[in-house]
Amino acid sequence: MPDLSIGLMSGTSLDGVDGVLADFDATPLRVLAHATAGFDPALRAELLALNTPGGHDELHRAQLAANALVRVYAQVVHELLRQAGVAASQVRAIGAHGQTVRHRPQLFDGTGYTVQLNQPALLAELTGIDVVADFRTRDVAAGGQGAPLAPFFHRGMFGRPGRVVGVLNIGGISNLTVLRPDGSQIGFDCGPGNALLDAWTQRHTGRPYDDRGAWAAGGQVDAALLQDLLAESYFAAPPPKSTGRDLFHPDWLAARLAPHAGLAPQAVQATLAELTARCCADDVGRYQPGLPDLVVCGGGALNDHLLARLRALLPGTRVVSSAEAGLPPLQVEAAAFAWLARQCVQREPLALESTTGARGARVLGAVWPA
Ligand SMILES: Nc1ncnc2c1ncn2[C@@H]1O[C@H](COP(=O)(O)OP(=O)(O)O)[C@@H](O)[C@H]1O
Ligand SMILES: [Mg+2]
Repeated sequence: MPDLSIGLMSGTSLDGVDGVLADFDATPLRVLAHATAGFDPALRAELLALNTPGGHDELHRAQLAANALVRVYAQVVHELLRQAGVAASQVRAIGAHGQTVRHRPQLFDGTGYTVQLNQPALLAELTGIDVVADFRTRDVAAGGQGAPLAPFFHRGMFGRPGRVVGVLNIGGISNLTVLRPDGSQIGFDCGPGNALLDAWTQRHTGRPYDDRGAWAAGGQVDAALLQDLLAESYFAAPPPKSTGRDLFHPDWLAARLAPHAGLAPQAVQATLAELTARCCADDVGRYQPGLPDLVVCGGGALNDHLLARLRALLPGTRVVSSAEAGLPPLQVEAAAFAWLARQCVQREPLALESTTGARGARVLGAVWPA
């Protein structure tokens, strides 16, 4: 019997939506379809603007942006069903992550919050499928960081009995999972992934991202700037920890660039790529020195220059794209949310303590029945 779920991920890169339709009757899973949709420039600009406090009538704008986002989600769902020749009634659930616009766990009153813009009720209306959403808030309520959640899926997908395996997801932000043979795992956000690289590329070349990292690869890393960037206290803080555009924002870069005025844009790009590679490689060195295998996923796995830098910085580690480990880079996070949706509808708790810092195991997500 097929056991079908859909996962929809729109991450901090704000590049659009990745969706997968997966069959969990196969072990670990079989992807029946993968579809993507970009955001139109107005929606992207509005989602980006809502990441930054300020502006007029944010509550109103957030709700309309969520409606627009969910219309893109629905398009992706219909495309997945069409590709796979599957009817909506055959799909158990859609896991819809939503768009993170603020991530401030454990702050202010001690609980803090994380906000994913989403409109699961509208998505249930538009698709006729049960929707699971709001995965992160229960974890935050239980004292956790609300992130990362993908490590639980990484174990089933990339774990190998008796071996330590690292999984590095390079989305807008980068996060590292270390799967240990005793069944324990650590997972946390390393720092920037593609977000600063994309913003700099857009500003100086007009392209959405640095294809395969070619522009960065042709530039000279500036050691002084790199040192100033790596001085950010987030990098040295111990896990559990998570971050987002709240911290690694173009203004964060602008403040640190100021003393280095006059650097060529390409040198800055090379240095930003080195920052991403260094913060990830340094974390491997700190928390799992001698790691034998590192599986890289997320759009950053398509950046040849980043992969080359990771290999150079981690000479003892076999660094491979997730495609070589069974799942193409842009499908991993979406598949994780298909899996998380299934966990939720089955009321399966996740042991969050070592990953997010939550007080105990919890069922994550809430269901909007079709
Ligand atoms: N061919 C490529 N070369 C370099 N970078 C790429 C390529 N394809 C995608 N990317 C990067 O991956 C990002 C999207 O990654 P993704 O995993 O979807 O991140 P997120 O989960 O934050 O949305 C793009 O914004 C871009 O920076
Ligand atoms: Mg994306």
